[in-house]
Amino acid sequence: MEPPFTKQLRSLPASIPFVGPETIEREENIRFQARLGANESAFGISPNAEQAIKDGATATYYGDPTNFNLRTELAGVHGVSINQILVGGGIDGLFSLIAQAFIEPGTPVTTSRGSYPTFNYFTTLCGAALGLVPYRDFCPDLNALAKEAQRSKSRFVYLANPDNPTGIFQIRNRLENFISKLPEDCLLILDEAYIDFSPPPEILPVGKEGPRVIRMRTFSKAHGMAGMRIGYLIADQEVVAGLNKIRNQFQVSRLAQIAALASLKDSAFIDSVVAAVAAGREDYHAIGEELGIKTLPSASNFVAFDLGSPKRVSAVLEALKRKGIFVRTGPPPNNRLLRVTIGAPRERTLFAAVFKEILASEHLGASK
Ligand SMILES: Cc1ncc(COP(=O)(O)O)c(C=O)c1O
Repeated sequence: MEPPFTKQLRSLPASIPFVGPETIEREENIRFQARLGANESAFGISPNAEQAIKDGATATYYGDPTNFNLRTELAGVHGVSINQILVGGGIDGLFSLIAQAFIEPGTPVTTSRGSYPTFNYFTTLCGAALGLVPYRDFCPDLNALAKEAQRSKSRFVYLANPDNPTGIFQIRNRLENFISKLPEDCLLILDEAYIDFSPPPEILPVGKEGPRVIRMRTFSKAHGMAGMRIGYLIADQEVVAGLNKIRNQFQVSRLAQIAALASLKDSAFIDSVVAAVAAGREDYHAIGEELGIKTLPSASNFVAFDLGSPKRVSAVLEALKRKGIFVRTGPPPNNRLLRVTIGAPRERTLFAAVFKEILASEHLGASK
């Protein structure tokens, strides 16, 4: 018997959006010395969070299904009502929830071709009609996105700000202008996974976005908890109430809730991570300059090196992998970018040495 999958699922090709470094190590008998491919943090987690886990963690009990303490703290930090916050299994987990709640076969969705792919992944399963808008000079093209949303009568627009894989950040005036140009009944999914690394005065303040925006945040990046799987969204109360009807109540583990709460209260730690990442970005820009390779301005925890062609990127990625360095590129057409996470100083030194060696090799030089 054929498993009774939905028609939509049966129509989809099997796809693996991310091949993890563990799989590469296992299948190719490699030991990575530097993990610079998934924009995880190289700077650990808050010592307070670590202590809180030691003190309070038990895997025996379920976590609080309402995530009450964490939501209360988040509401205070952002100056919003607790009813505007929903906690879930990372931004990716929340994308899945949004797709289930809002997307029906044929729902028009607009996004940038070549940006972070997970929102597309989940909405496609539910039958979304994706409108893919080209970047302009490696920057999500806000005017074109708004135009396409108007043309297709989109109910959703997805924008990562800062963007992945470019690292480009759009300042608040631009965002405000963009939001004002979206169709009346269109929600903006504003993915702010990297917002902690962006210049605070230029960030659109929470509360200024209006009811048509869902802001997505995570503990995976600056807070260093990618393995915990915890993130949250800030939205209009009505949106949160609807999502609450189908939320997986126990998705966020007890440990994750305890750790996230302690980390949120440790702003000195987050400041230190943000400063360390900024220094690392400068290192990467300097490497690019030395090698004559353009790097894109980044307000995130990675830097994109423009190698000019996907072919060259593939060759460099392969060579880096053989030398024990895990790095990724972006989805086409951003697969001419080598996207390198800000590693710890040891990882950056190793990357710099190996990258220079690879580019100096005649073969790759010739394929430039
Ligand atoms: C733009 C963007 N959004 C979301 C995520 C995933 O976040 P989370 O770990 O909270 O699921 C990533 C991870 O790399 C990302 O780059």
